[in-house]
Amino acid sequence: MSNRRIGQFSVSPVGFGAMPLSSGGSTTPSPEDAVAVVHAALDAGITLIDTADIYAPSWDTMGHNESIVAEALRTWSGDASTIVVATKGGITRAEGEQWGRDGSPEYLRAAAEASRERLGVEAIDLYYWHRPDRQRLYADVVETFARLKEDGVIREIGLSNANVEELQIAVDVLGEGELAAVQNEFSPQFNHTSWRELQWCGERRIAFLPWSPLGGTGGGAAELGDRFAVIAEVADARGVSPQQVTLAWELGLGRHVIPIPGASRASSIVDSARAMDLRLTADEQARISSALLRR
Ligand SMILES: NC(=O)c1ccc[n+]([C@@H]2O[C@H](COP(=O)([O-])OP(=O)(O)OC[C@H]3O[C@@H](n4cnc5c(N)ncnc54)[C@H](OP(=O)(O)O)[C@@H]3O)[C@@H](O)[C@H]2O)c1
Repeated sequence: MSNRRIGQFSVSPVGFGAMPLSSGGSTTPSPEDAVAVVHAALDAGITLIDTADIYAPSWDTMGHNESIVAEALRTWSGDASTIVVATKGGITRAEGEQWGRDGSPEYLRAAAEASRERLGVEAIDLYYWHRPDRQRLYADVVETFARLKEDGVIREIGLSNANVEELQIAVDVLGEGELAAVQNEFSPQFNHTSWRELQWCGERRIAFLPWSPLGGTGGGAAELGDRFAVIAEVADARGVSPQQVTLAWELGLGRHVIPIPGASRASSIVDSARAMDLRLTADEQARISSALLRR
């Protein structure tokens, strides 16, 4: 399957969501194993890594995930300059595991600069506003992202957890062609709202990146075949995993769709990467859409 576009970048159709490497739960791998999982993703042909400053086991280890990604790229045997790294800012974590939002220009600039330093890059390839700060005007915060790009701190702008109305505000502020990517939750079990944004992005050639594309780390991903008969049927007929069928279906929703499955084990992401070689027939694609899409 050929590469897909995120603004100026050409990336593999499936990206790697690095969040499960830093969850802090019992499945969190050691730092060495975490680096090996990233290497496995890259060796499998994935050229896009998704991280965020808040992906960390605890509030006082913010940046944990970005540091793993940086270490993995530094020690990978391949050409790391071909890998696109996306990170995010705008969510805060404080003592006592207090979560918050901060869309102020001062906070976002400091957060982007800290991420840039941890990733060890001159400019962040793709920087997302992670979640809206409802205390602020959406347009004002988008303006801050425009300044970060203008100043060379970031190369491309992304928005996450945004609805169509917010996306339209962003395009009005940034101008056509300046919003590179939208990252929203989208999976077989969760697509009732984000289907609208997926289509909106397709009409404007903006990349749409489904997060938790398999249904998340809480068990959804493992149970896809049990929960959705149509996925199990296609997987059995093709002799592939339900996770591969799910990702292939998402890829079939448009050339702008780039799912970013997460993994804490190398075997998971290596299997998911195989979805890049799985092309569903028009009939399989239509059957899955008709069973799963809540339009
Ligand atoms: N923007 C946002 O607000 C936001 C929110 C959440 C997530 N994200 C991003 O989206 C990425 C993906 O979401 P996610 O990690 O929450 O959920 P996900 O990709 O839907 O599911 C991840 C889980 O799927 C399992 N898995 C992956 N491939 C598999 C396969 N081929 N076979 C069997 N199991 C497989 C993994 O198992 P193992 O752990 O056992 O390997 C992992 O537990 C995150 O890593 C993060 O980068 C963004």
